[in-house]
Amino acid sequence: MAAIFRPHANVAAKAVLLGLALLLLTGTAWWWGYPRTDYARRVGYTIDQPIPFSHEHHVAGLGIQCELCHSTVEVSAKAGMPPTYTCMTCHSQIWTNAAVLAPLRDSLASNTPIAWGRVTNLPDYVYFNHSIHVAKGVGCSSCHGQVDKMALMAKAAPMTMQFCLDCHRNPGPQLRPESEIFNTEWVRTTTMPSPAAMVQHYHIGGRNLTDCSICHR
Ligand code: HEC
Ligand code: HEC
Ligand code: HEC
Ligand code: HEC
Ligand code: HEC
Repeated sequence: MAAIFRPHANVAAKAVLLGLALLLLTGTAWWWGYPRTDYARRVGYTIDQPIPFSHEHHVAGLGIQCELCHSTVEVSAKAGMPPTYTCMTCHSQIWTNAAVLAPLRDSLASNTPIAWGRVTNLPDYVYFNHSIHVAKGVGCSSCHGQVDKMALMAKAAPMTMQFCLDCHRNPGPQLRPESEIFNTEWVRTTTMPSPAAMVQHYHIGGRNLTDCSICHR
C-alpha cells in the first residue's frame, strides 16, 4: 500500500501531540497552582492605610497589649479594630499636631471611624471565629505571624483552606499555654507538656475538625 504520509510525518505528529499535552499540563498546573502561591495570596505585602500605624512601634516598642486595641478577640468571632478614642487616650497628648495623625483628628471631629484596610480577609462562604481559637490554646502568631516586627501590617500566612486544614488535622503541636496566647515570639519547647497532653488540657476532640460543616455552614 502506498504510504500517504511519509515516515517522518509520524514523528512530527507525535511531537505536536506531546507539545499539546505538555501545554495542557503546564496550563492546568498554572491555573490550579497560581492562585495558591504566596504572590497571588499577597503574603508578606503591605497595603496603604489612612494612617501608617506601626505594630512594631506600639507593641514591641511601647508594650501595648493586643486586647487594648482588638478588644473583642477573646469573646467574639471578630477581633475588632480599635475605635478612634482608643488611639486618642494617648494621642490627645502625644504627637497632637503630627501631620500623619490628621486623619485621626478628622475621625474624632466628624465622629466617623477610620476605614482601615484589611490584609486578612476570608471569603463569605467560610465561617471563622477568633474566640474559640483563643480559648483552645491557639495564639495570634500561629495565624498572623510576628506582628510586633511589622512596621506596616502584612499577611503572614496564605489563609488557604490547606492552611486551616494543616492545623485542624493535628492541632496538638501548635497549642500553647493560656499565658502565651498573645506572645508573638512563642515556640514549642521540649519542657512543654506533650501535644497529646495539650489536646486533653483544652478538651479538644469529640468532633472531626476537618468536616466541611465546621467551616462551611
Ligand atoms: C498607649 C499609648 C498609645 C496608644 C493607645 C496609641 N499610640 Fe500611637 N504612639 C504612641 C507613642 C508614645 C508614640 C511615639 C512617639 C515617639 O516617637 O516618641 C506613637 C506614635 C504614633 C505614630 C507615629 C509613627 C510611629 O509609629 O512612630 C502614629 C502614626 C501613631 N502613633 C498612630 C496611632 C494610632 C492610629 C493609634 C490607635 C490605633 C495609636 N497610635 C494608639 C502612643 C500610643
Ligand atoms: C495601639 C493599638 C493596637 C495594638 C496594641 C495592636 N493592634 Fe493590631 N491593629 C491596630 C490597627 C489600628 C490596625 C489596622 C491597621 C493595620 O493593619 O496596621 C491593626 C491591624 C491588625 C491586624 C491586621 C488584620 C487585617 O486583616 O488586616 C492584625 C492581624 C493585628 N492587628 C494583630 C495584632 C496583634 C496580634 C497584636 C498584639 C501582639 C496587636 N494587633 C496589637 C491596632 C493595634
Ligand atoms: C486560627 C487563625 C487565627 C488566629 C489564632 C487569630 N486570628 Fe486574627 N484573623 C484570622 C482570620 C482568618 C482573619 C480574617 C477573618 C475574616 O475575614 O472573616 C483574622 C482577622 C483579624 C483581624 C481583623 C479584624 C477582624 O476581626 O476580622 C484582627 C485585628 C485580628 N485577626 C487579630 C487577632 C489577634 C489579636 C489574635 C490573637 C488573640 C488573632 N487574631 C488570632 C485568623 C486568626
Ligand atoms: C494553629 C491551629 C489552627 C489553625 C491554623 C486554624 N484552626 Fe480552627 N480550630 C483550631 C482548634 C484547636 C479549634 C478548636 C477545636 C475544638 O474545640 O475541639 C478550632 C476550631 C475551629 C472552628 C470551630 C468553631 C466553632 O465555634 O465550632 C472553626 C469554624 C475554625 N476552627 C475555622 C478555622 C479556619 C477557617 C481556619 C483558617 C483560616 C482555621 N480554623 C485555622 C485550630 C486551628
Ligand atoms: C478548617 C476550615 C475548613 C474546612 C474544615 C473545610 N474548608 Fe473549604 N475552605 C476553607 C477556606 C478558608 C477556604 C477559602 C480559601 C481561599 O480563600 O481561597 C475554603 C474554600 C473552599 C472551596 C472553594 C475553592 C477553593 O479551593 O478555594 C471549596 C469548594 C471548599 N472549600 C470545599 C470544602 C469541602 C468539600 C470541605 C470538606 C471536605 C471543606 N471545604 C472543609 C476552610 C475550610
